[in-house]
Formats: sequence, structure tokens, C-alpha cells
Amino acid sequence: MVRASLFWAIFGLALASQQRLPVPDPLSQLPLEGYSERPNIVFILTDDQDLHLNSLDYLPHVQKHLIAEGTSYKKHFCTIALCCPSRVSLWTGKAAHNTNVTDVNPPYGGYPKFVSQGLNDNFLPVWLQNAGYNTYYTGKLFNAHTVDNYHSPHVKGFTGSDFLLDPFTYQYLNSSYQRNKDPPVYYEGEHTLDVLAGKAYGFLDDAIKEEAPFFLAIAPVAPHSNVAIESLEGDVEDFVANFSPPIPQDRYKHLFKDVKVPRTENFNPEKPSGVNWVRSLQRQSQKNVDFNDHFYRNRLRALQGVDEIVDGIVSRLKKHELLDNTYIIYSTDNGYHIGQHRLEPGKECGFEEDINIPLIIRGPGVPKGLSTEIVTTHTDLAPTILKLAGAPLRADFDGDAIPVSESGIEEAKTVRHEHVNVEYWGFALGEGKEWNGQSMSRFHHNNTYKGLRILGDSYNFYYSVWCNNEHELYDLNNDPGQLVNLLDKRSKAVTLFGHSLTKVVARLDSLLFVLKSCKADSCIHPWRALHPLGNVHNLHDALSARFDEFYEVQQKRIEYTRCEAGYILDAEGPQFENDGLVYRYGSPWSEWV
Ligand SMILES: *[C@@H]1O[C@H](CO)[C@@H](O)[C@H](O)[C@H]1NC(C)=O
Ligand SMILES: *[C@@H]1O[C@H](CO)[C@@H](O)[C@H](O)[C@H]1NC(C)=O
Ligand SMILES: *[C@@H]1O[C@H](CO)[C@@H](O)[C@H](O)[C@H]1NC(C)=O
Repeated sequence: MVRASLFWAIFGLALASQQRLPVPDPLSQLPLEGYSERPNIVFILTDDQDLHLNSLDYLPHVQKHLIAEGTSYKKHFCTIALCCPSRVSLWTGKAAHNTNVTDVNPPYGGYPKFVSQGLNDNFLPVWLQNAGYNTYYTGKLFNAHTVDNYHSPHVKGFTGSDFLLDPFTYQYLNSSYQRNKDPPVYYEGEHTLDVLAGKAYGFLDDAIKEEAPFFLAIAPVAPHSNVAIESLEGDVEDFVANFSPPIPQDRYKHLFKDVKVPRTENFNPEKPSGVNWVRSLQRQSQKNVDFNDHFYRNRLRALQGVDEIVDGIVSRLKKHELLDNTYIIYSTDNGYHIGQHRLEPGKECGFEEDINIPLIIRGPGVPKGLSTEIVTTHTDLAPTILKLAGAPLRADFDGDAIPVSESGIEEAKTVRHEHVNVEYWGFALGEGKEWNGQSMSRFHHNNTYKGLRILGDSYNFYYSVWCNNEHELYDLNNDPGQLVNLLDKRSKAVTLFGHSLTKVVARLDSLLFVLKSCKADSCIHPWRALHPLGNVHNLHDALSARFDEFYEVQQKRIEYTRCEAGYILDAEGPQFENDGLVYRYGSPWSEWV
């Protein structure tokens, strides 16, 4: 049993608040000239692609067709750094604590959990179909979506679909795809990206023939590790041992011979960093570093097949004169680290490498060649896509549509939220060859934490509380590599951007306290939840001395009672209640002082 569940974990992968009726927001409707004017949307979703290891620099077609012709959102974040939960948040517009799909495998995650949470009836493709769109998807949807369970039930919401299925999802040369209601087809010996390209172009052709506008998602497995499994039987340790660098198409194997992981300050640092299990990692040997550089090169090579698909899609859209009426969105499910903080290749951490990820949008009215630092997250994407489609937004979205016009982006610089709610439950896994830890295991359990990323005019922090109640605070303006934890016992820091450290931390903790169980509006406007009068919009406002007592004395602090691998409420200490002022520990009157 344990094995089975861990097995799905490796293939990495209620708060039943979903409202049945979409609540239209009149401001969200784009002026529509006519049905045929509605834009098409193509979404390219890679797997585990980094922003911080500079993978985009190696993708010439992404550079030419998307970065030069569209807008790069440089402060785009996933809210949970793991494939399946992140994808569920992306396609539902809800934080993981509101989908309760928090893992890649049952009982806490995977396709079966997505279904049992009622989300198969209630996610983006279903809403787009209701709005008159034809919808297509090919590639990896979720984890634990398998050759055994793909039909019980089938994924809803797609006009055409061809999904990669476990346990073959991460086998670059032995994939299994499952089209519409047909049984799975095995592609032994063919490269998964070549197979995917054919399917993507096929769906594009189908979509173009129809009258209705279309949404097409293309979700290649690159640059995820290759995971070679032949059978579901056997020991979990054997599966784990089968992680290896991604396998590029033969035509790209020769590239980038001299390229190495960027040697940033936090790359295999001399001193340990982070907290909990991260802090106990040993420095990597030269042999380990060499292997990880090889791992990195193979990621860049494997991504060439994705770059090819970008070119293929753009040239087909151009040929059919649809390019000017099509939005192309390029992103990934979560980021990736290799060697930073001495970590073996992997994700699942709250560090910038894992959460700050590529997002590029091109299309009608989107500024060309722009790079913006407005704060956006994966929970913002479902609302964004509905808005682009001119469809009503939903009242239960935890995210806020991302502006794509020049004026919208400009306005967002002053009014858009400044926070990112990061969360995680379960374990982290090293995907390299070595495991570089005392426990001689690739698994790092108790990797359960809440995190807050906050980016303002004069501040740039990551604050987190772990399930063992260790705390982290990094000042990214002065410490971009997140090497100095200001809340470490050994830290001598007492002030932070002109304020006492305690004063700042009290505000950050309260903000995260709201966010860790927020819903809808309190996720988008958490300061409003703390200050219902609406007089506090950001950290700067909250630092006013008149709120000292409110934050430093009256509020409850985030605190776990134990570590759990899933969202078990009673392990997570005091809770914020959305519909009242219950989170206010003392008198709310300090507000008026
Ligand atoms: C989330 O799902 C798990 C597994 O089904 C369940 O035990 C837990 O209570 C759920 N959490 C919440 C807050 O509903
Ligand atoms: C591909 O998967 C099938 C089914 O598990 C297996 O029998 C076959 O040996 C695999 N082929 C390769 C090249 O790994
Ligand atoms: C995880 O945390 C629990 C306490 O919540 C502790 O009992 C257990 O030993 C920890 N496990 C590991 C592997 O650190």
C-alpha cells in the first residue's frame, strides 16, 4: 500500500467552495465586435522549466516569436512548486489550499484527487466551452493520470485531447498517449516531443477548420527528468533510482558542450544555507557538480524540441493569417534548482529558483519586447484566459486577471497586489545521481511550509514558516541568493529597510496568516482582510506606528502543531476565518487610533 502510494508520488504527482453559477464581472468583459473576432489562445506549458538558470536564453524561437513579440512577466510565480498541484491551481484559478490537491499522488493529490474534489466539472476548459470555445489539449495534464484510470472518468472539457499517461509520462523514448476516448497508444522508440509536435499541429488544423474560436494547450514533458519505469510492480527505491537527465532528440544531442549551471553566489556555497533539511546538506563534490552540469545541458537540449514546436505553431498560425488574433502564452508548472543551496536537481522548495518562473504572453494589444516586474501568479492565469476570451470571471477565483495591454500593465505598477502566497506539503526529492545528505536518501520528508513573497518599491522579501516552526526571512534586494536568513539564531540583524526587524516580521506573519487559508477576495486583497476600512494597501502602509499594537501584540502567530504530508487542518495551528473578524485576536479598534 505504502509502496503504491509512494509510487504515484514519484510520478510527480473540501473546502467545497466552488460556486455553481459564474458571477459575471461587468468590467471583465472585453468589447467584442462579433463572434469571429474572439481571439484564439494557445498555451504552451513546459514541465519544471527554470527562469533563474537562464534556460530561456537557449531557445531561439521563444526569443524571436514570443519574447521579442510579446511581454515577459519577470515576477511571475507558481504558488506551489510541484507539478500536479501547480497545474491544478493553474487550470482552476485557485490556491492549492482551496483545491486541496496538494501532492502528485493520492491521497493528497494526483488525477484521482482532482476528480474527487469535483474539479473535473469545474475548471478552465469547461468554462471556455461554456463560453463557446473549442478546446484542445495534448501532453501531460496531471500526475497519477494513468493507463489504468484515464477512463474513470475521462477528463472533461476538451473538444479534442491526447494526454500523456503515467507510468510513461516521463519516458522520453517510450511514451504513452491517450486520445479522446480511445485506449492508450504506445510510442516505443519515438521521441515524446516528436510525437507531441504531430499531435499539437493536428489539433491546430482541426481547430482552424471550425468556426468557433479555440483554446489549445500543448504540454510537453521537457525539461523534466527522464523516469524509466517498465512496470508498476517492485520496490519504490528502484523507481526512484530510475530518475535520470532528460533525453533530447538526437538532432540536439551535440549542443551546448561547454555550458554549465550559472555559478551564482548561491551555487554550491561554502556555508550551508536555508533551514530544516536544506541546512544539513553537505557541499557537493566536484564529481557531483560535473554530473549536475551534464544534467543541466541535457535540459537545455531537451528544450530544443519545445522551441521547435513554438516555431511550428507560430508559422502555422501565420500561414492561416491567425497570428494577429491569437494569444500565445508560454509558461511552466514550477521552477527548478540545480546546485543552489547545495541542492541536488529538483524543485519543491520556496527558493526563488523554484517559484519564480517564465511567463511570456504575445497577442493582440500585448506590448512587444516589454519586460515587466508587476507581480503575477499561476492562480491569475485562469482569470486572465477567461478575460481574454471575453467570458465571465468567477467570484471564487483566488487570483486576479493579469493585464496584457500597455496601459493595464502601467496601471498595475501602482495598484496591483504585491504578494505571492506560497505553500507546500510533503517531501522534496533529489532527482540527480547523488543524494548528498546524511540520511542517504533522495527523499526529504517534512518539507511542509508556508511562504510569502512580497515585492514593493523599497522591499523584496521571502518569509516562511516551516512545519517544525523554523522561520526564514530573506531580503532579496541585498541578498538575491537567499543565503542569509535574517531570523536565524546566529543572525545579528536588528533592522530592515529602516524599521526594526520585529516590526516588519509581525506584519509579514499576519499577512501570511491571512493568505495561508485565504479564499477569493482575501487571497487577492489580504491587507483588506486585516484592515476592512481599506486604508492599508501594502506593507509600507501597514508599517505605520499606529498599527504596532495591532500587529505586534494582538495578532496570533503562524504555528504548526506537527508536520503532515497533506493539508490536515488541525496540524496547522490557529486559523484565519474569512467571514468574520475572528483572526483579530484583540480589539480591532487600534485601526481607528
Ligand atoms: C484535504 O484532503 C485530505 C485527503 O483527502 C483530507 O484528509 C483533509 O482533511 C483535506 N483537508 C481539508 C482542509 O479539507
Ligand atoms: C516500453 O514500455 C513497454 C511497456 O512497459 C515495455 O515492455 C518496453 O520494454 C519498453 N521499451 C523500452 C525501450 O523501454
Ligand atoms: C517529521 O516531523 C515529525 C513531527 O511533526 C517528527 O516526528 C518526524 O521525526 C519528522 N521526520 C523526519 C524525517 O524528520
